[in-house]
Amino acid sequence: MRDEYIDLIDLSDYSTVWWEDIVVLAHEIMQHPERYTQRCAGKIMATLFYEPSTRTQMSFQAAMLRLGGSLIGFDNPSTSSVAKGENIKDTTKIVSTYGDILVMRHPSPGAVKAAAISAECPVINAGDGGHLHPTQTLTDLLTLYETKGKLSGLTIGMCGDLKNGRTVHSLIKAMSCMPDNRFVLISTKELELPQYIKKILDEHHAEYREEERLEDAIADLDVLYMTRIQRERFASQQQYLEQKDVYVLDEEKMKKARKDLVVLHPLPRVDEITIGVDDDPRAMYFKQANCGMYVRMALILLILEKSLKPAPLFKGEVRSDIKCSNEKCITNTEKYLPHYFVIKDGQAVCEYCDETTEIEKTL
Ligand code: NCD
Repeated sequence: MRDEYIDLIDLSDYSTVWWEDIVVLAHEIMQHPERYTQRCAGKIMATLFYEPSTRTQMSFQAAMLRLGGSLIGFDNPSTSSVAKGENIKDTTKIVSTYGDILVMRHPSPGAVKAAAISAECPVINAGDGGHLHPTQTLTDLLTLYETKGKLSGLTIGMCGDLKNGRTVHSLIKAMSCMPDNRFVLISTKELELPQYIKKILDEHHAEYREEERLEDAIADLDVLYMTRIQRERFASQQQYLEQKDVYVLDEEKMKKARKDLVVLHPLPRVDEITIGVDDDPRAMYFKQANCGMYVRMALILLILEKSLKPAPLFKGEVRSDIKCSNEKCITNTEKYLPHYFVIKDGQAVCEYCDETTEIEKTL
């Protein structure tokens, strides 16, 4: 039954206690991997990657294999029936009966939630366009737990493409739920954090300030989260070139930072961290990538062993008279999807991509 499955579409669907359970279990698996080698024997994970991936896909696969499970899936939709025009609903419906757990990445915001509607097994969001990336956030939480020993009371600098970086959105949403975290948002005006994430910071009374220059902010930080300028999400190559290379973390800037700074990056890096920084003991991005495998082992276990009450996919209402104003939203390409919105104060918040639409404008 669909509503018995524990999906992970957005971390905010679950309590912070559960996130911590995953982190603590991942830490335990790291210490004693031999205890877990058969925990998923006989289970199959299906990985559907409609967008390129190295770490997310392989760490999920390695996680399942290290738990004794097996794998099916594709990482190049052009070699699957997607190339023949198959919709997400049909692909998911079938593949989810072949596997016991489905991991999906897609270029459209909301696509993984859309897939979960028809899936017959739990679904994990491995990145939906520029929207969210909850398992990268679990990876980041584990890395902070391992390096800083805590997830609260931190000054966290987020630098680069804050507009399109899904890892940024998921991490800010999560860290703003933990007490006493402060954020320094370092970006150009063009790539600033979306309004709906700033609203979440305000709702959690999380302190934040915006900066345009990394060198002005670096000395204040406990954590610096560097990100890639997301070339594939720009409307034109020209717009991308104007933003590329604005932020480069190098050895010179590292001299201004605290001795106990932790530098994170979800990777892949392009030019935003020079190779010279890699040998600095504060550079934790390779350790972070390694944490990704252990945290995904913990997540798979907790989902398959049904460790918590599933969250409903939707809380609002179906409004077929309203069109989501986000052109990239999956509801604007897969037209058969029911349009779920949370309606409040004359505004409709799309339950797939979180974008707000003024109701009067669409009627
Ligand atoms: C990120 C992603 O895909 O969003 N990478 C990852 O999953 N580790 C970051 C990026 O692509 O820049």
